[in-house]
Amino acid sequence: MDFTAEPFRIKVVEPIKKTTLEEREQLIKQAGYNIFLLPAEKIVVDLLTDSGTSAMSDNQWAGMMLGDESYAGSKNYYHFEKTIKDIFGFKSIIPTHQGRVAENLLFSNIIKQGNVIPNNSHFDTTRANIEYNGGIAVDCVIDEGLDPAFEHPFKGNIDINKLISVIEENGVNNVPLIIITITNNSGGGQPVSMQNIKDVSEVAKKYDIPLFFDACRFAENCYFIKEREKGYDNKSVKEIAQELFAYGDGCTMSAKKDGLVNMGGFLALNNENLAQNITNMLILIEGFPTYGGLAGRDLEVIARGLKEVLNEDYLNFRINQIRLLGKLLTDNKIPIIQPTGGHAIYIDAKAFLPHIPQNEFPAQSLVVELYKVGGIRAVEIGSLMFGKTDKKTGEIKHPKLELVRLAIPRRVYTNMHMQYVSEVLKEISLTKHNLKGMKILYQAAILRHFTVKLRYV
Ligand code: F0G
Repeated sequence: MDFTAEPFRIKVVEPIKKTTLEEREQLIKQAGYNIFLLPAEKIVVDLLTDSGTSAMSDNQWAGMMLGDESYAGSKNYYHFEKTIKDIFGFKSIIPTHQGRVAENLLFSNIIKQGNVIPNNSHFDTTRANIEYNGGIAVDCVIDEGLDPAFEHPFKGNIDINKLISVIEENGVNNVPLIIITITNNSGGGQPVSMQNIKDVSEVAKKYDIPLFFDACRFAENCYFIKEREKGYDNKSVKEIAQELFAYGDGCTMSAKKDGLVNMGGFLALNNENLAQNITNMLILIEGFPTYGGLAGRDLEVIARGLKEVLNEDYLNFRINQIRLLGKLLTDNKIPIIQPTGGHAIYIDAKAFLPHIPQNEFPAQSLVVELYKVGGIRAVEIGSLMFGKTDKKTGEIKHPKLELVRLAIPRRVYTNMHMQYVSEVLKEISLTKHNLKGMKILYQAAILRHFTVKLRYV
């Protein structure tokens, strides 16, 4: 049977407050049509992000009580370290309070002005941390990964020829590391195959360049390998993860995703000299190496979360819940990135609202409508987030895709919530031709989508 119900019982609930259409219209207007400026209490289904929004298990909550808050040598750190070494296999484990700090610690220690860092697709904080440290972030995802409707089992794969060209053109001394993001968040939460990881690892070894993983959603990626790649169906997801990380030299991790916690992260690596330099900096900006900006109880729940995320009943439900929402939307002719990825559904707003031109932010118009009609919070990944104005010509450059991301928090919403989201989109479809584009009233110079104020054209 191909049907999975939630593999957990709900022991604690957080009531969702109801709001009326009129109230939501008023609230979103007051927020300048920017969903980041809405009070979370006024949201029915919050799909802004899957980061830091997981529900912890009874086992994790019990672990909170075992927090050892010693400044140095907390027993929870040793549990955290042992668990990470077991799954990821790297020698030095450095805790941080979230993923971007791990990125910053790594990049500020190895990137020199003008260095080039290839990745399948850099996530925005990864790109920003590279650029802040003087580097140039280059995306090398396969062409299939950039085509929303194209079906491919591993759309997050790196194009090996593109990777080699980047190294050859810039010179091996200008490439201090290669990154693979599993799953590829900026490219639709799409997985990377083990074969591709092996191929990238061979290139990395040939040129003697360290290979790091951006491992936020590693368990979801490994589950796709088990499901889709020949030779892995009889291996456990944990064994797949162990094999995968053995091809690399380290990883950065935001435990706010596949760590199943609300805050935390780490950096893990084999190079002991580099680890020592990073640890010295950690003490300066995050804290002593056995807590790195986290409480003992936080380290404990990460250790427990990393074990739980490898549970295959959980992963089966997780991936199928995303797939279910994808199917409900596809059945209602809502265009989405295919196949569905690990943590989110991405609606192709260009295809859904062809009458709104890119300079009028079609994806943002849909984001606003989702809130108005159903109290659903999604996020725009399109011209508002990535559009750039050429300083010399004043010409606006639009990204290729106009997407609305519906990110699903882990263990928080039931399949009935997915049905609700689908019903809201069905309702919007009926009158979508009347939807208007938007115009910017206020914008900041960088990362404008967080504080922008808009109005309808
Ligand atoms: N790398 C990837 C691939 C991410 O998706 C994120 C965060 C980070 C690094 C940074 O981790 O937030 O703990 O500092 N992604 C969130 C999202 C914010 O909504 O996709 P962090």
